[in-house]
Amino acid sequence: MSETAEKDLFSKFDEIIAVRENLLASGVEDPFSLVMERVLSPTRAVCNGRDTILLGTYNYMGMTFDPDVIQAGKDALDNFGAGTTGSRVLNGTYQGHRAVEDALKEFYAMDHAMVFSTGYQANLGIISTIAGKGDYIVLDIDSHASIWDGCKMGDAEVVPFKHNDIEAMEKRLKRIPEGAGKLVVLEGVYSMLGDIAPLAEMVKVAKDNGAMVLVDEAHSMGFIGEHGRGVCEAAGVIDQCDFIIGTFSKSVGTVGGFCVSNHPKFEIMRLVCRPYVFTASLPPSVVATAATSIRKLMHGSNKRAHLWENSKRLHGGLTALGFKLGTAEPQSAIVAVIMPDLERGAAMWEALLHEGLYVNLARPPATPANMTLLRCSLCAEHSEEEVETILGMFERAGKAVGII
Ligand SMILES: Cc1ncc(COP(=O)(O)O)c(C=O)c1O
Repeated sequence: MSETAEKDLFSKFDEIIAVRENLLASGVEDPFSLVMERVLSPTRAVCNGRDTILLGTYNYMGMTFDPDVIQAGKDALDNFGAGTTGSRVLNGTYQGHRAVEDALKEFYAMDHAMVFSTGYQANLGIISTIAGKGDYIVLDIDSHASIWDGCKMGDAEVVPFKHNDIEAMEKRLKRIPEGAGKLVVLEGVYSMLGDIAPLAEMVKVAKDNGAMVLVDEAHSMGFIGEHGRGVCEAAGVIDQCDFIIGTFSKSVGTVGGFCVSNHPKFEIMRLVCRPYVFTASLPPSVVATAATSIRKLMHGSNKRAHLWENSKRLHGGLTALGFKLGTAEPQSAIVAVIMPDLERGAAMWEALLHEGLYVNLARPPATPANMTLLRCSLCAEHSEEEVETILGMFERAGKAVGII
């Protein structure tokens, strides 16, 4: 009897295991397994026993501790229980799911809203379902993993173009065979560098070339645009966007994802979109917190203005200190600080944590061009003084690590 040696399916991860072990061997705290022991507010937590300022959450509008939001969640827990135990198309649609979809329709002034269990699933579901065999998806090469995975799950041809390059996008569109279905997929804010897409131009080019347009506004909802509808609102092209994807895990302050649209046939998605049908719906407490938060965000213009001030203050301060940033001007609530390499990035991340500041350490494959980044994301609840304190922390840590 011959025996065949078992191949260890984990051997494909050896390289990443080695990178991680080398990093930890240098003595730094593990940047990817930090525990928030207590969360005190949208901008403060206790991490490793230290009182820490949070500058690496997606809690842009600070809604996680809003008293009305919390009360809505508690009431829903009391009245509807902990979970739905079912799909939206069977027993998993409660009145709260309808209420949050109504809130979204009002927020975006659109005809249809469909809520998914996460933003990841919203991209996975919508992209893989609407673009089928023989269709073409034209997308920015720096698109979020959930967009790429949506492309992978579907049967369409996938054609990437250089980040934010309008001409490259147009060239790809013009090469698509006559009569084929076309979907252009863009993001309002690209979350790694915090830069925005030139949506006015890109949406026009897409429409001139007969494409439908999907814009993922995960990092702009609630903050960018007069009503917080995102970069497509600020650019004046929201009416030409066929689908807007968003998430509850950022400005809304809870978890969940959605797609809004004015397409007259949109409701059929509820029956044909597998990541909507074949998974349990969100718990009643989550949809209740989301609906309350979204309705409050409709009146968030003061918070939006303060968040812009914070973004400008941090961007200006870090530039003055000599840090290299992802964008020349502040374009969103994300300010990315470019590190020379992973080792110094991790050392800087740790030095900031010891100062009492949490930021995100981001590295490939999440980042473009192999960059190591310290991603700072601001919150409307950060005070002016807190931003000054943060700048002082960056100055001390940057000098100690030798980055400035
Ligand atoms: C651009 C973009 N789209 C979608 C998502 C997924 O959102 P969720 O956290 O709701 O799965 C993210 C999350 O980071 C994102 O950055």
